Amino acid sequence: MTLRRALGTCYYPEHWPEETWAEDARRMADLGLTWVRIGEFAWSKLEPVPGDLRFDWLERAMDVLQGSGLKVVLGTPTATPPRWMLDRHPDMLAVDVAGRPRGFGSRRHYCFSHEGYRAESVRITTLLAERFGARVEAWQTDNEYGCHDTIYSYSDAARRAFRDWLAQKYQSTDALNRAWGNVFWSMEYDSFDQIYLPNLTVTEPNPSHALDFRRFSSHQVARFNAAQVAAIRRHSDAPISHNYMGRIVEFDHFALGAQMEIATWDSYPLGFLEDRLEETSEHKRHYARQGDPDFQAFHHDLYRAVAAQFPESETPRWWVMEQQPGPVNWAPHNPAPAPGMVRLWTWEAFAHGAECVSFFRWRQAPFAQEQYHAGLLRPDSVEAEGFHEAAEVARELADAPSVEIAQAPVALVFDYAAAWAWAVQPQGLGCDYFRLVFEVYRGLRKLGLSVDILPPETERLDGYALVLVPGAITLSDRLKRALQNADGQTLLGPRTNAKTASLSIPVPLPPDLPGLEVTVSRVETLRPDMPVPMEGAGHVKLWREQLEGGAEVLDRDAEGRPVTMRAGRLTYIGGWPDADLLRHLLLRACAEAGVAVVDLPPDIRVRQAGPTRFVFNHGPGPVAFEGVTLPPAGVLRQGPT
Ligand code: GAL
Repeated sequence: MTLRRALGTCYYPEHWPEETWAEDARRMADLGLTWVRIGEFAWSKLEPVPGDLRFDWLERAMDVLQGSGLKVVLGTPTATPPRWMLDRHPDMLAVDVAGRPRGFGSRRHYCFSHEGYRAESVRITTLLAERFGARVEAWQTDNEYGCHDTIYSYSDAARRAFRDWLAQKYQSTDALNRAWGNVFWSMEYDSFDQIYLPNLTVTEPNPSHALDFRRFSSHQVARFNAAQVAAIRRHSDAPISHNYMGRIVEFDHFALGAQMEIATWDSYPLGFLEDRLEETSEHKRHYARQGDPDFQAFHHDLYRAVAAQFPESETPRWWVMEQQPGPVNWAPHNPAPAPGMVRLWTWEAFAHGAECVSFFRWRQAPFAQEQYHAGLLRPDSVEAEGFHEAAEVARELADAPSVEIAQAPVALVFDYAAAWAWAVQPQGLGCDYFRLVFEVYRGLRKLGLSVDILPPETERLDGYALVLVPGAITLSDRLKRALQNADGQTLLGPRTNAKTASLSIPVPLPPDLPGLEVTVSRVETLRPDMPVPMEGAGHVKLWREQLEGGAEVLDRDAEGRPVTMRAGRLTYIGGWPDADLLRHLLLRACAEAGVAVVDLPPDIRVRQAGPTRFVFNHGPGPVAFEGVTLPPAGVLRQGPT
């Protein structure tokens, strides 16, 4: 698969005098940008009072932008309902876990379950699609579902919808009582109307109740999005996208991926390093101006997999819709990127298959919440540092041969429902599904491996020499079959296939996989300061299982207890491996699977893109690697030219 690659930016014509648009558009085109995203927060300017539509300015902005040769992504403005919307729908606000409505004065102040707001969102989307559907080149629905902790709402609307959803799912309260185990603590119901949302309970709610609420909330996001997608499709053939985020797991992105042609995500490497990772302060200091070396790559691979869910796409289409161009404003600390990093991040996205990298934003805003968030231009329109790096990539793209993406040798399964189950029942502080999967991903990348991420309903694992399924609490029947038929090595656990779909402990005890004589007879969680040493390298940390059964024991801890057990190509890991244990397990699995590894220097990462290998230096200093010295922020492209 050979990829077209392009650059873009996010532009807010409504923020700037109309006289500046033509000059802005010309400068974008001169910079080598192809795409410009507009409109996603402009509702109060498109409809200042209900029914008074003012679309002409947007039409003029499109005339100017498209007149300069740019292609337009039009965002639906539903992440920012205007103030009058609250007068029409006073109960549309999401309600937080403490029962307080979330207020007006920023953004994302709506509840996904509010039928009135959903209708408004379809109305404005339809009006935009009718007017602009024939001329825009792509769409974006809403903006960053889940940003600012907005998936869960404990509103009356959510409660009503949850009851309906439960009634559909279980058909009878008897079935629900059985599935949830409501006989415990006399929690049985005899009508769906008796069921409340799982907040404000005296102590923790029934985990099965909490898990169903998470499934329901994810379903509501998919339903909200599907309504916009349907409205757009009635009037437009242009591809539709949504901009996902870093480490947001509260809704099933694969379900949305199936609805839309393009998956995009918003990549803010320095902000994410500060506030999305459980790393040491030493690690955060080391990469403060570079960003974590694996976090962006993980999401590139994840959203490539999300894009692949769209049934009609031959090749997964995914973008970085918002690329950090300089300091941001929202993390605990907001350093500027080291010189060259904006270019490196952009090339890294292309190396993972991005079709477009679009910089957020064109010009830094001198007003409101994001005044200290860099753009490609400063507030006075002078070119900022990121502009020059974007220009460099644009020049490089003009001569660069195309990037090819091929199947990776290694697959890693990512399951949103597992993330919810771990969150509902972590059993110990720090036991988090994303963290576990991300640590495994990091371990693979440190060995120079390129990875494909796969959804939990994967049916076939053909061509993968190594497949990892850490922490997937409930395996789908499809994935179980695929694992049985896989011809590669497979690493499962900890906590893989540990629970029924309604979050009970199954009998026979887990992991209960055909041919694998392993039983998890007990689990315990460990304080961060009590990791259990292995007989060989590394430790088990945080989550520890007691394994029994007849399968071959591969590794034991220093107390002599089995930690990994194997039957045929299936290996079960009964604990959360620290970095050293993980490395040992991965090296052995790769050797057995015939997958070549490279022992990379800590700051170096590589990505195989078809016949081309990209080498990236994520560190603050020069690094010698395979006879070459990569400067800080260095990008090396090896292979056919
Ligand atoms: C994103 C969002 C943008 C802007 C940006 C700032 O989360 O989509 O609208 O707020 O962050 O970094």
